[in-house]
Amino acid sequence: MVLFPLVLLSSVVVHVVWAVPSSAATQCTGTIASLGDVSAAIKCTTIDIMSFTVPAGETFNLALEDGTTVNMTHTFNMTRVSVTVGDIAFGNKTWDGPLFQISGDNIVFNGNGHTFDGGGPFYWDGEGANGGVTKPSPMMKRIWRIKISGIFTNVNVVNSPEGVYSVSNPGLLTMSNLIIDDSDGNTPNSKSDGLPSGQSTVGFAVSTTKLIIENSTIINQDDCIAVDKGNNITLRSNTCMGGNGISIGPVSSGATVSDVVIQNNNIIQSDQAIRITTDAAATDGSVTNVTYSGNTGSQLRMFGVLIDQSAPSILGVPGNGVEISGITFMGSENTLFVNESADNIAVNCGAGSCVGIWDWSALTINGGSYGPINFCGIDGIWD
Ligand SMILES: *[C@@H]1O[C@H](CO)[C@@H](O)[C@H](O)[C@H]1NC(C)=O
Ligand SMILES: *[C@@H]1O[C@H](CO)[C@@H](O)[C@H](O)[C@H]1NC(C)=O
Ligand SMILES: *[C@@H]1O[C@H](CO)[C@@H](O)[C@H](O)[C@H]1NC(C)=O
Ligand SMILES: *[C@@H]1O[C@H](CO)[C@@H](O)[C@H](O)[C@H]1NC(C)=O
Ligand SMILES: *[C@@H]1O[C@H](CO)[C@@H](O)[C@H](O)[C@H]1NC(C)=O
Ligand SMILES: *[C@@H]1O[C@H](CO)[C@@H](O)[C@H](O)[C@H]1NC(C)=O
Ligand SMILES: *[C@@H]1O[C@H](CO)[C@@H](O)[C@H](O)[C@H]1NC(C)=O
Repeated sequence: MVLFPLVLLSSVVVHVVWAVPSSAATQCTGTIASLGDVSAAIKCTTIDIMSFTVPAGETFNLALEDGTTVNMTHTFNMTRVSVTVGDIAFGNKTWDGPLFQISGDNIVFNGNGHTFDGGGPFYWDGEGANGGVTKPSPMMKRIWRIKISGIFTNVNVVNSPEGVYSVSNPGLLTMSNLIIDDSDGNTPNSKSDGLPSGQSTVGFAVSTTKLIIENSTIINQDDCIAVDKGNNITLRSNTCMGGNGISIGPVSSGATVSDVVIQNNNIIQSDQAIRITTDAAATDGSVTNVTYSGNTGSQLRMFGVLIDQSAPSILGVPGNGVEISGITFMGSENTLFVNESADNIAVNCGAGSCVGIWDWSALTINGGSYGPINFCGIDGIWD
């Protein structure tokens, strides 16, 4: 009878010991002006990030307390009057990253228009994720991992070595007003054999639930936004330029994608505007309920809309292990201008794996000609 209250008391003591430093920590404002400042700053729930260069081969890792507000901010340096400060650079080294990583729940991260410069030209060789003899240890992983819930806004990224954002948020996350500018990667360099030097520069690789990406601009050489798994995702009012458009897939074995809204995006000078691909060899996957409305596209080089179950081939022999249903173009008109030599619509389904009736009544295609279409459940566009 005496032991029982003692046990209770000791558990109360332990609780108090933990709670005191944690609530004290939330009172402070952390300032990060070098990588060495991070471990102290992340104990605070208000953090300012100044301009600095992350040493080569190290990750700028923000493992934040829940509820933290982070601002990128200006510092005034009288000896560098004309230089924009408040930006983050990374030392150059061939390693697989990531360069920056952030985690935490209920986070507000405001870049205030400041820039993360990935140093792309140091890495670019026209090979991207496919390696290449002159690049022994290329950046094979997505270098930016965003694993937060809350708001991530007003951040610019220039010259990503390879992919930019890899998103797997644990709760509702809104990413907005982001700029990715890999336009320098369009230019060939001495290593790229005449090809654009930047390759595999996927803007957002999304594998998640409850995500909104909006009001962002992506100039790159690969998928603008690619969703390979997840549900309840809204991609709204983004501009994509130069790459492969907005993509679902490639969907692989066991993966499901559902309830995706793709709305009011503008896709220009890209291989295609809209694409859904599934792996030919995949089993037990599905893509359900993807709605396109109000999107526009122009100068589309290969396809307007491509639905293809033969990945990694393009319009190859399709598999039927991933069921696709409920792909609709409804609501506000979607209007695409396709290059003359391109397929404006191509649909390559496996036997029995595209199902239901797909309402495409809000899709207007200009230019190009029909590619192969082997699914007869598409409604509303042929008249
Ligand atoms: C973060 O920046 C915004 C915009 O400049 C400003 O309104 C806000 O007060 C800043 N917050 C903190 C915690 O510094
Ligand atoms: C200001 O800029 C000068 C010249 O680039 C640099 O040497 C100095 O470290 C900077 N000072 C601060 C506080 O950032
Ligand atoms: C990394 O290399 C790129 C391209 O050569 C260069 O622009 C950048 O300044 C370098 N970064 C650093 C931190 O030296
Ligand atoms: C989908 O996400 C929205 C926010 O974008 C959220 O309010 C809603 O609860 C989510 N729905 C489901 C079924 O998870
Ligand atoms: C995106 O832009 C629209 C239109 O300007 C605006 O209403 C909306 O608030 C913006 N979203 C965010 C998260 O800033
Ligand atoms: C399709 O997805 C939208 C957006 O998430 C959702 O509102 C709607 O209920 C879903 N429709 C079906 C039939 O599940
Ligand atoms: C096809 O689109 C590209 C831009 O993506 C454009 O530069 C080119 O002139 C177009 N070609 C034709 C034949 O329209």
